[in-house]
Amino acid sequence: MRKNIVAGNWKMNKNVIEAQQLMFQLLDYKKHNATHCEVWIAPPSLYLMMAKDVFAHNEIGVFAQDISEHESGAYTGEISADMLASIHAAGAIIGHSERRLYHGETDALCNVKVKLALDKGLTPIYCNGETLEQRKAGQHLEVVKNQTEEALFTLTADEIKKVVIAYEPVWAIGTGETASPEQAQEIHAHIRNLIAGKYGQDVADEISILYGGSVKPDNAKEIFSQPDIDGGLIGGAALKVDDFAKIIEGFN
Ligand code: G3P
Repeated sequence: MRKNIVAGNWKMNKNVIEAQQLMFQLLDYKKHNATHCEVWIAPPSLYLMMAKDVFAHNEIGVFAQDISEHESGAYTGEISADMLASIHAAGAIIGHSERRLYHGETDALCNVKVKLALDKGLTPIYCNGETLEQRKAGQHLEVVKNQTEEALFTLTADEIKKVVIAYEPVWAIGTGETASPEQAQEIHAHIRNLIAGKYGQDVADEISILYGGSVKPDNAKEIFSQPDIDGGLIGGAALKVDDFAKIIEGFN
């Protein structure tokens, strides 16, 4: 079901003391402030069970930053969808551009991971987005089309309705070069139209599509006001409670 979501991708940041401190700061914020969106965090996997303990009443959704494409077995260092389901994680980020860049993840691999996540009752946050070179070459619509179709279009209508999509232009991630609200809206509408073309408008209108890439307290409200933007996937600004809170308040 389509909803407003602000999700924090902590990436590889925070030692255990810092992570616990931020989690309790977020819990305190959530307890004392009415929010007009769901609030999710994706801490390093090491801290997922701690997060489930801190947010024992599901005040904040707890997500992994990746899952294995394997169900189980001799895959050193990997974490399976079943493991995440067993600790009652809410879901996992899949296909983040940093995993595509540093770990060679492909749209086809993301398709396997998305399906595994759904089969275990997890919510996938499927990431896509073009590079600066691709945008400069005017290929951004085609690139996002391929990323969306390759990774998601084998799903049934009921399955894809459970997927959250995050459009993250690579050139905006960690750079301070935020996409303009118009640039972001163009791609979000493009993704929603692609889904409508395959599954029908009713299904397309049920899907939450988040924007990620240098979302900050001073630009969140305008970005979130766009008709096809349902929230944000936040990196750097998720690591400080005050900044993350101001972004959440972008929906107020
Ligand atoms: O997954 C979200 C992340 O890639 C965005 O990072 O630091 O640009 O908000 P940042």
